[in-house]
Amino acid sequence: MGSGQIDDQRSSARRVRSVIERLVRDGNAVARSDGTVHSLFPVAVSAAEGEALREWVSLEGATRTIEIGLGYGISALHVCEGLLGNVGQTPRHVALDPHQATRFANCGLQFLEEAGVAELVEHRAEESQIALPRFLSEGKSFHLAFVDGNHRFDGVFLDLVFLGRLVRAGGIVFVDDYHLPSTRRAASFCLKNLGWTLEEASAVDDPHQWAVLRTSAGPDTRPFDYYVDF
Ligand SMILES: C[S@@+](CC[C@H](N)C(=O)[O-])C[C@H]1O[C@@H](n2cnc3c(N)ncnc32)[C@H](O)[C@@H]1O
Repeated sequence: MGSGQIDDQRSSARRVRSVIERLVRDGNAVARSDGTVHSLFPVAVSAAEGEALREWVSLEGATRTIEIGLGYGISALHVCEGLLGNVGQTPRHVALDPHQATRFANCGLQFLEEAGVAELVEHRAEESQIALPRFLSEGKSFHLAFVDGNHRFDGVFLDLVFLGRLVRAGGIVFVDDYHLPSTRRAASFCLKNLGWTLEEASAVDDPHQWAVLRTSAGPDTRPFDYYVDF
């Protein structure tokens, strides 16, 4: 990558930062699609969680990322900011959300456009449990995943199991809402049965906890009846 391209990415990252700062400061926004007013937090990730997410994208040198639950796009903006700081292949972020046009009046896509990163993000208006197995059969792979979609146990469990196969071996799955029993239990299955490790978690008294999981670096060699209670 030439120095001109690095400068372009830096200036793009600054534009993303300015949109994040405006949204965090205002806390609400008007949807261009239908004029509805949206209160962004606590539906969207907090600035602190977003910064932790951006740091992990940087630390991992990720250039291909995936997110379950675009929502207001605050997590996606932080991922994009991290991606723009990583030099290498052209960065790409895939964001799933079946309710973007309805519940969110396309606000997430609007903010990505305002931040100048709409072309970097591929939004799919699909449920993750339908899209992820298809991505697997299409041979897609990612360096890092962020999970903030369907928070029921079966929803998070399916997301983690499929992302475990879509994210590179020893890659990062950053999980939101770790304080919820459903999320914690689904993560516990991966930690106790799949050889994943817990890399970082926000404070236990954080009302909106998050955790960073690393998938197993080796192949899955469990016998067919392997089971550890979780
Ligand atoms: C808490 S919001 C995400 C907020 C987002 N991380 C942000 O920072 O703005 C949860 C999102 O998950 C989406 N969602 C719910 N079920 C889903 C599913 N099965 N697959 C993908 N997304 C889903 C919802 O439409 C919603 O946008």
